[in-house]
Amino acid sequence: MKLISTPGNSIHGELTLPGDKSLSHRALLFAALAHGESVIDNFLMAGVTKVMLDALKSLGVDWEFKGSRLIVQGKGLDGLQPPAESIQCGNSATTIRLLTGALAAAGVPAVLDGSPGLRRRPMKRIVTPLQEMGVPIQASQGGTAPIRLEARLKNQLLRAVDYRLPVSSAQVKTCLLLAALAADGTCILHEPQPSRDHTERMLAMMGVNIQTDGRQVKLTPSQPTQLRPLHLSLPGDISSAAFLIVAALITPGSQITLRDVLLNPTRTGLLDALRAMGGEITVQNSSERGGEPVGDITVTHSRLSGTQVDGPLVVRMIDEFPAFAVAAAYAHGRTDVREAAELRNKESDRIAVLSRELRALGANIEESRDGFTIQGDGALRGGLVNPSGDHRLAMALAVAGLAAQQTVTVQAAEIIGESYLDFVSGLQSLGAGMRLES
Ligand code: S3P
Repeated sequence: MKLISTPGNSIHGELTLPGDKSLSHRALLFAALAHGESVIDNFLMAGVTKVMLDALKSLGVDWEFKGSRLIVQGKGLDGLQPPAESIQCGNSATTIRLLTGALAAAGVPAVLDGSPGLRRRPMKRIVTPLQEMGVPIQASQGGTAPIRLEARLKNQLLRAVDYRLPVSSAQVKTCLLLAALAADGTCILHEPQPSRDHTERMLAMMGVNIQTDGRQVKLTPSQPTQLRPLHLSLPGDISSAAFLIVAALITPGSQITLRDVLLNPTRTGLLDALRAMGGEITVQNSSERGGEPVGDITVTHSRLSGTQVDGPLVVRMIDEFPAFAVAAAYAHGRTDVREAAELRNKESDRIAVLSRELRALGANIEESRDGFTIQGDGALRGGLVNPSGDHRLAMALAVAGLAAQQTVTVQAAEIIGESYLDFVSGLQSLGAGMRLES
């Protein structure tokens, strides 16, 4: 399927976003590990959460949808059944890494695998510390999926660890915190920079003894583990909102409001970066929902200038670089992204693919080992692009077309359904010139 973006229309109006992806994955998995019935409203229904839903079914967990309300019958860590076949995690690194942590705690034997794209992504970062904790686990030779977990003796606890993560990663942190639920003492994890802290917030709500000061998390398990079920309404996904925010900033005459968006400070780096570029972005109706900050975001078309992104800000906007790079391409002057080598380990090598595809649209962009430099002059030409099977690249490139001199055609755009099924219809409802063609 091709997605064609046509310039010329400004965008206006209000929109609510689907439930946040990171929160949806955690709420679903943690609910399965709790005892009793959990109710999750505004759960994200998309490709990456479908694989987690299917995986939990194969482990004997019952769930059902009533509209966008998800009801999960928690089995407890000791109630998960060994799956009959290998667990297919599709393109979802969150599913494979978080589920591995949960199965390590539960002592359930399983093989976890996924798409060719997922098999490219690094898994040593979870396997090495899990082995240190005494988990019988192996990745394939290259340190990638498939991951094989052997059975562990019933009631055999894992070794508590004090572990330094080599890279900041909420997926690795969450995997290890889940395994820590079955440890024989307090586990302490240190990160180079603070990554998203949804797990810490949610596990604390479920009764787990967990403390964090940002870069260090400490979990003291109680045996047997008893997690309280969840009753949550999930806020809108800030990582999906990112594309709409950039669309409004770059498209002349635009103003939009996005309602009930997750505004956890470990996720709002893009807003800071865009404001530093001169973007007019305001937040109203700030409140808290299910232990997370939320609010409404209003964005007005703005003249943007170049900026510098490095250090902790990189981690606070790790999924937003495709959208950010489009804003930088429309900015005036030089934008430098540094200390962001982790972008090479995402759904695609985002440094290489962003550079190649934005160049195809006329951008002046140079790739470096750990980032890229864009010399913007306020305009892009347009053209034909290939998002390389990366949902966020597909959405960012489509947004780039809304303000280009000619149309932008995104090939194989169905990949957008991995995280945001209503992306095209949402933008169309705001007046954007976008259409799908088979
Ligand atoms: C996620 C963490 C990030 C992010 C991913 C979701 C999570 O990955 O890129 O989309 O839900 O924990 P890393 O932890 O690998 O940085």
